[in-house]
Amino acid sequence: MIDKATVKRIIDVADIVEVVGDYVHLVKRGSNYMGLCPFHNEKTPSFSVNRQRNICKCFSCGKGGSPVNFIMEKEGVNYHDALLHLAKKYGIKVEERELTDQEREQQSERESMLVVNEWAMRQMESNLTESEEGKTIGLQYLYQRGITNEAIAKFHLGYAIDKGQDLYDKAIKSGYDVKHLKSVGLCGESQQGRYYDRFRGRVIFPVHNPAGKVIAFGGRGIKGEPAKYINSPESQIYVKSNELYGIYQAKTSIIRQNKCYLVEGYMDVIGMWQSGMENVVASSGTSLTDGQIALIHRFTENVTLIYDGDAAGIKASIRGIDLLLSHNLNVKVLLLPDGEDPDSFSRNHTPEEFREYIENNETDFIRFKTQTLLEGCGNDPIKRAEAIRSIVKSLSSISDMIKRSMYIQDCSRLLNVSENILILEVKKARGEVVEEQRKKIERSSASTDSAEASIYESMASKKAATDKEDTTFCSILRPLEKNVITYCVRYGMSDYAATDADGEIVYLKVFQVIADEMSLDNLTFTTPVYERIFQRINDMYSEYSAQRGEFRQELDAEVQKRYRAGLDKIASEQLSVEDIAHKEDLLKRELDVFCSSRESEFDKLYVSKILSSDPDDELRNEVLNLITEKYNLSKYHFKTTRIEVESDKLSELIPRVIDEWKDGVLHVKIEQARAELKRITAENTGEDIVPIMAQIQRLAQARQQFAKQIGERIIVPKK
Ligand code: GTP
Ligand code: MN
Repeated sequence: MIDKATVKRIIDVADIVEVVGDYVHLVKRGSNYMGLCPFHNEKTPSFSVNRQRNICKCFSCGKGGSPVNFIMEKEGVNYHDALLHLAKKYGIKVEERELTDQEREQQSERESMLVVNEWAMRQMESNLTESEEGKTIGLQYLYQRGITNEAIAKFHLGYAIDKGQDLYDKAIKSGYDVKHLKSVGLCGESQQGRYYDRFRGRVIFPVHNPAGKVIAFGGRGIKGEPAKYINSPESQIYVKSNELYGIYQAKTSIIRQNKCYLVEGYMDVIGMWQSGMENVVASSGTSLTDGQIALIHRFTENVTLIYDGDAAGIKASIRGIDLLLSHNLNVKVLLLPDGEDPDSFSRNHTPEEFREYIENNETDFIRFKTQTLLEGCGNDPIKRAEAIRSIVKSLSSISDMIKRSMYIQDCSRLLNVSENILILEVKKARGEVVEEQRKKIERSSASTDSAEASIYESMASKKAATDKEDTTFCSILRPLEKNVITYCVRYGMSDYAATDADGEIVYLKVFQVIADEMSLDNLTFTTPVYERIFQRINDMYSEYSAQRGEFRQELDAEVQKRYRAGLDKIASEQLSVEDIAHKEDLLKRELDVFCSSRESEFDKLYVSKILSSDPDDELRNEVLNLITEKYNLSKYHFKTTRIEVESDKLSELIPRVIDEWKDGVLHVKIEQARAELKRITAENTGEDIVPIMAQIQRLAQARQQFAKQIGERIIVPKK
């Protein structure tokens, strides 16, 4: 067994081009690499490798996949051994360990729970369609609600016989352990020690995880019970906040349609499915969680929330929006006519009508939120301001810089508020959002699976970003990135005077300012060595604080010593009282200057000192260049005569190089889109060019808007 962290490292580092390259001669073609398929005999290459996605595929025989998959296929080994193979290739040390007894027990416990659930699902399915009671009560109920046999089979709906121990007895007879019946919550134990079936007399909705395992059940009462639904309790196999009802049935359709509908309940999922919309999942009556959104995001970026058009529905949809936005999903909202839910709507309308209704009424979140909030405030200026604040908060949740600027334009029109004011407000709010995210990551960095998964995802996306596919674009960005990284290396720990939102001067570290600015817009270095330097400095922080503290103590001692020696000297000079006071004053001032210059020297040299003896050869050499090279850090330097003033001008120079960089990123995106357009036109593939032209226009607008933003910058200090 390989520990999780190592597995992640192996997966992260394995580059599909390199891995496949060990077996296949690859030739670059466009943005892909092509070669002869290693899995079947062929004369013309149909094996394609995509570095950005880190996958390969044969268009002829269909084999391929991730680096791990490729090795598994090619070497005929299992996952574990494929990982070992890759670890060896990349020199990653793997310390294998045996499962501890406790882990082995847990693993087999989990498996047993899944097995008993699977069995129970089948059992209750057959109750529904084969038992007399099931047919007359359960099936009757489902038919009455317009559910078809097809849907019943698809969602494995079932019925629990209305007897104290029906399921329990059958389970024991079939050899299942009462322990597992209890831990999955199919059975409970009364105070008298008698077992009973939890779901008895209810229609059963099994809940699957994306892999198709049955992890829980929902049971709908059909006799007007006070609890309309009973659900399985949370357990080792069921963490409610990470699951979505219907995801297993919906996932291929979500990928195909590149869109996911999110509804409230079991019946809504089934209703929509019967209307031909298969890409639908339910949050099951609770408000959305990070885990559920991450789950959707594995399959698509586009989500449409469908809610009942009453006040509660509107409120609920507004609550979910910011969370979805912060995960970078494109959110739309669809309100159904008052009193209708997707289930009733699908029964009262034909599939065509439903589709048409969606098309005509699906609203972009921002429009939706703006409209509903503004409607609620009439002419009340206080309510209006509050509404705007809330919209600003939503806008600031969007971490994609281009998307955000588009929405700002939109909102400025809708709200009738100047774009510049919105930009400023969003920027302020964004500082808080970034801070919150940082705290969240710090809090959860420990061990939970989902946190690890999300950290891994961000590493993966960075990996994609560092892909140096297109050298021309790199050559645009590299000098801009170089400016920024130069400041990190030369002045990373130096103080930076900034003005906070209230106009107060605050001192921040140069590196922190740069890092915050970068995270505001999700910027990363595309030049790998710069990214490594950046990460190294980032990792230095706590060490720096500790050493800085020690240095300060030593410095204080030194200052004390000098002060006492100075006083002694003054005393020995037999001066007038006035002269003594004057000289003592002078001494203090001298020592102040001494102290602060030693401190700023310490800060200034801290980063470069450490990095110039880093074990990474390329990094070390690059750092040496950055420190020594006297090239112009930015055009701005032409205006200043002496390079010595650089350190005094940090507050002007740093925002400038960051802005130039951001502008460069937009520039490259535009160029990429243009190149794509050119390719499409040249190859005459019949592909639709309208979307790409729209994208170019969007980007160009974003760049224009960004130009406006320069000069209205405020730095939001870290709290
Ligand atoms: P119907 O009422 O049969 O149409 O079911 P529904 O799926 O449309 O339920 P509804 O829209 O009322 O509620 C949405 C979801 O909230 C349900 O699918 C359940 O997951 C959950 N829910 C609703 N009522 C209860 C309840 O009484 N207890 C629990 N635990 N969950 C409930
Ligand atoms: Mn309903």
